[in-house]
Amino acid sequence: MQNLKLNPHLLAIPANIGGKPTGEVQAEYGLTDVVEMGSNESPFGLSPVAVAAFHDALQNAHRYPGVADKRLRQKLAAHFNARATASFSEQNFLTGNGLTDVIRMIVQAFVFDGGETIACTPTFPMYRLLTQEFGGKCREVSHKNYRHDLSAMADAITEQTRAIFVCNPNNPTGTLVTRDEVEAFVQRVPPSVVVVFDEAYYEFADDLDYSNALDYVRAGRDQVIVLRTFSKAYSMAGLRVGYAIGTPAMIEYLAHAQIVFNTGDPILYAAAAALDDQEHVERTRKMIAAEKQFLYDGLTRLGLQYVPTQANFVLLVNLPRDVKTINEGMLQRGVIIRPMGGFGMPDAIRVTIGTRAQNERMLWAMGEVLRK
Ligand SMILES: Cc1ncc(COP(=O)(O)O)c(C=O)c1O
Repeated sequence: MQNLKLNPHLLAIPANIGGKPTGEVQAEYGLTDVVEMGSNESPFGLSPVAVAAFHDALQNAHRYPGVADKRLRQKLAAHFNARATASFSEQNFLTGNGLTDVIRMIVQAFVFDGGETIACTPTFPMYRLLTQEFGGKCREVSHKNYRHDLSAMADAITEQTRAIFVCNPNNPTGTLVTRDEVEAFVQRVPPSVVVVFDEAYYEFADDLDYSNALDYVRAGRDQVIVLRTFSKAYSMAGLRVGYAIGTPAMIEYLAHAQIVFNTGDPILYAAAAALDDQEHVERTRKMIAAEKQFLYDGLTRLGLQYVPTQANFVLLVNLPRDVKTINEGMLQRGVIIRPMGGFGMPDAIRVTIGTRAQNERMLWAMGEVLRK
């Protein structure tokens, strides 16, 4: 490799940033039964309707993707129009190979020639990493009480700012920004800056003061983009579909960064079918809400501090033992959780809310580890 000219922006970010896969933990620790609570996946599985649609579409999988993307976008428009007065069309939606791919499109579309982004710390690290990958700088603004400090984020805007990411609910803290905060913030953002509301965990939020960023898109504001994914409440993390909602002009611009055939038809059909099965989403949402309370009670019994969450994960903070020791002990007991060093919180751990059996196992393992 010495003789090759390598891209320094790529070398600035780690090559593999995903959590430890279950199979790896099984092999490393000689375990057969491992509980995955590290990546905020849904433990409840895909809707059977989505599985059937995926299976049917395999018949044509020898072909490149065709009309499935347009169909999904039409269905998304109908889905959102059923819940509000202003109407969307397929032109308001852009799909990607997971939401991560959509975030990549946004960064690629706006970070060039010295462009910068702004994000909270801690938050989903891909905003920063992708900004660096495209040669830009991400200004990180510290959280305030585990929440986005939107006023400080607005203060951080410079001539170089091209995009601001607001993760709502925020990963890894699980906290929300409210409607009033968003309104005051959006007022302060100059028209030359894009504001991206990443609502990957939208469906889990039950706070009525949840910001409705979509209203800005409905009102025709080009600079606002809202992001959603099928990976979380729709339990489709392994299939990879996420999407942006924006004005037709913004979506048309972002489509320049979309890689042709980025997602396969069987996956897009599965996502469209999953939209039809809202009962499955509702069941998942209710189970997560019930299990959240179960986890809170268990964590309190263990004397652990957590940040109340609006998502499907809980951030444990001010841990009484060092995170490395806790993580190692949990892995030995077959429970994958996520240490938050990579998110800039070396003293915290994020735990995905699981099924009752998984949550019981996690609490048991944590109790054992803390007793040692
Ligand atoms: C806030 C946030 N945005 C986006 C993503 C990416 O989701 P996807 O699986 O759709 O790429 C995640 C995944 O954990 C996330 O937490």
